[in-house]
Amino acid sequence: MTFNIKKICCIGAGYVGGPTMAVIADRCPNLIINVVDLNLERINAWNNSDLSKLPVYEPGLDEVIKRCRNRNLYFSNEIEKHISSADMIFISVNTPTKRKGVGAGQASDIKWVEKSARQVAKYANGTTIVVEKSTLPVKTAETIKAILETSNQNQTINGENKEFSVLSNPEFLAEGTAIKDLENPDRVLIGGDSQEAIKALESIYLNWINSEKIIKTNLWSSELSKLTANAFLAQRISSINSISAICEETGANIKEVAGAIGMDTRIGNKFLSAGPGFGGSCFKKDILNLVYLCNHFNLPEVAKYWQNVVEINEWQNHRISKVIVNKLFGTISEKKIAILGFSFKANTNDTRESPAIGICRDLIEEGSSLAIYDPRVEEKQIKLCLESMEEISNLNNLGNWHLSRSVIDAVTGADAIVITTDWTEFKSLKWEEISKKMRAPSWLFDTRNLVDIEEVKKHGINFWGVGCGS
Ligand code: NAD
Ligand code: UGA
Repeated sequence: MTFNIKKICCIGAGYVGGPTMAVIADRCPNLIINVVDLNLERINAWNNSDLSKLPVYEPGLDEVIKRCRNRNLYFSNEIEKHISSADMIFISVNTPTKRKGVGAGQASDIKWVEKSARQVAKYANGTTIVVEKSTLPVKTAETIKAILETSNQNQTINGENKEFSVLSNPEFLAEGTAIKDLENPDRVLIGGDSQEAIKALESIYLNWINSEKIIKTNLWSSELSKLTANAFLAQRISSINSISAICEETGANIKEVAGAIGMDTRIGNKFLSAGPGFGGSCFKKDILNLVYLCNHFNLPEVAKYWQNVVEINEWQNHRISKVIVNKLFGTISEKKIAILGFSFKANTNDTRESPAIGICRDLIEEGSSLAIYDPRVEEKQIKLCLESMEEISNLNNLGNWHLSRSVIDAVTGADAIVITTDWTEFKSLKWEEISKKMRAPSWLFDTRNLVDIEEVKKHGINFWGVGCGS
């Protein structure tokens, strides 16, 4: 099979599909790229002439979209049409944890991947390369191949044969730095059987990435490497968070410990920031998927090992809520607490699995009134995350929450502030002004170790920091 790639279709216009295709379009002006999605609201937002209204907030994304949109990058809900004209199709749809049925709570739900594969089987023409961009359970390529090979769909209406080649090309971008990561990735991984198909995809990346950074493996190594990379990253966070608890008990300081171990080049200094637990749509889902696979392959000890990474993460999150309640004399009923940050990390509007959600829920359950401020997250998004909480709180007279439009608005009259997201603006807050707005004795709980502790204490605010204690 030989491939001449002129048109690409990406199924899924989310946090991965949108930015990834934007960067490919930017770097490959000769390719026509159509990003399609079932969600019309999302497509309309990608097409919004006001670039501040794009559905995904990522530093630098607006500039890339400005250069390519309607030049060689298009967003559309005409899925069948764009599948049928594409030479290469990326599947970049969501793969959340299954909620019911076999594997519920662990296995990834690949129903959207399967649906995409069926659409490709039906509408694609000629020879087409199908690229797994979504993060998938190992062996999913087998499922996709099986669907594509369904015999009754193997011919176009004109009687022409359809041929498919499946590749795995997992995405390693992190939110908040997506454009930087896509423009200058540590590596690009391509797994597949067909050398011609691998070459066709490689030639796209070679437009801006050095060949030494492009790794080629078999399909299963590629699928497993993606799950393993996320599991290792998450494991580092659970490791440092577990040590943060020992620091608080002993008077050791987590920043000093992380600095000391990180200088060992074998350990390295990245991903050693203690915090309120990892959030984001992928770490937990991908580890649980790995756990499910281990159990499936009868490797319960391995499953248990990785399951602990998730358990420590949840423990850390709730441990911090308990510290807050204890420091505030064991009761926060009718106390006002300012929550600074709701996204799962800085520089994104994504709230999926945000550690702020667990802390807010715990504090509402304890009867507190929360004033939530985030520079990028919209009220309706916070509402969705805390919705079930609202229902319970109406029934049981628990605490409540409201959105604040500024830090000062949030902290006015508050007994405590909890920094939950590492937004840069929280590093240089005006503690003198803030201290005058709060109700004494006031507290700052810094779950991200962002602030200058002495500056906070100087203005009479009590301080607690993760892994630093008070
Ligand atoms: P997302 O939910 O933001 O986007 C997925 C999009 O796919 C949605 O807009 C949905 O409407 C659309 N979709 C689902 N089924 C469809 C279909 N049949 N036809 C057309 N559109 C369809 O998800 P995301 O964050 O972009 O993640 C996508 C995949 O990439 C996941 O497997 C995830 O694990 C992986 N991943 C995500 C990140 C990240 O930072 N978010 C990084 C690396 C890998
Ligand atoms: C992560 C990986 O870093 C990406 O390589 C991967 O492509 C992506 O998951 C995915 O598959 O979805 P992301 O979740 O966007 O990216 O962001 P990270 O920077 O990894 O942060 C995840 C969470 O860990 C955040 O809540 C962050 O605040 C937390 N974190 C990170 C810490 O608590 N400490 C650290 O030292 C680093």
